[in-house]
Amino acid sequence: MRGKLVTGNWKMNGNLASNQALLQAMIPAISPISGAKSAVCVPFPYLAQVEQLLRGSGIAWGAQDLCQFDNGPYTGAVSATMLADFGCRYVIVGHSERRSVFGESDGVVALKFSQALRVGLIPILCVGETLDEREAGVTEAVIARQLDAVIGQSGVAALADAVIAYEPVWAIGTGKTATPGEAQAVHAFIRRRVAAGDEAIAAGLQILYGGSVRAGNAAQLFGAPDIDGGLIGGASLNADEFIAICRCAQPAA
Ligand code: PGA
Repeated sequence: MRGKLVTGNWKMNGNLASNQALLQAMIPAISPISGAKSAVCVPFPYLAQVEQLLRGSGIAWGAQDLCQFDNGPYTGAVSATMLADFGCRYVIVGHSERRSVFGESDGVVALKFSQALRVGLIPILCVGETLDEREAGVTEAVIARQLDAVIGQSGVAALADAVIAYEPVWAIGTGKTATPGEAQAVHAFIRRRVAAGDEAIAAGLQILYGGSVRAGNAAQLFGAPDIDGGLIGGASLNADEFIAICRCAQPAA
């Protein structure tokens, strides 16, 4: 019922020349992949370039953040309306780097999520626990709190138009991946939590895994029943790796 999705998160990387080379290598290999979707979430200044290169390619694009308010006196911020102007399909919301480095609270993340939906963007809501939280046995409580903030603001029905990414903070950029079993357990918890509000929405919800996904571990992770693809940081900057990961998301023939 729900297909797989592989989304690159370039973070604060790239330049005009390297973006062009990366996308030109990806397009001919990823465009023909059927049965799985792919996208790249890029820094704001490159949205116009990426829109121009990816339009009609079958690879979608999006941003990595947005403002919790619409257009107005918010110096330095970028609104959902502006992202829609550049053909974005997705926007990452509440990435752990935004939460920890830029101090975004659950409440701000919930407002950003609702702004994305207001203009028809698909928010990719990131949730995940730190190593301390995992070791303290509060993983589920942390994820429930992060999810409930968004559901409280927008209602469970809003998740029909959203994607969730489970990204254990200890696995991001560290080379330490959650095992398929560890990830599956949290994905199943997220789906159960959403199902408590609406079973049909939970059944259709794409839940991506993120945190040191590579070509070498993607197939195993994507094989777990509640893992519907990946949010890929470091490996999305390498065309061969990203293409291989997208192939792992294809349904078995
Ligand atoms: P990583 O990042 O793949 O480099 O671990 C994932 C993310 O932060 O989205």
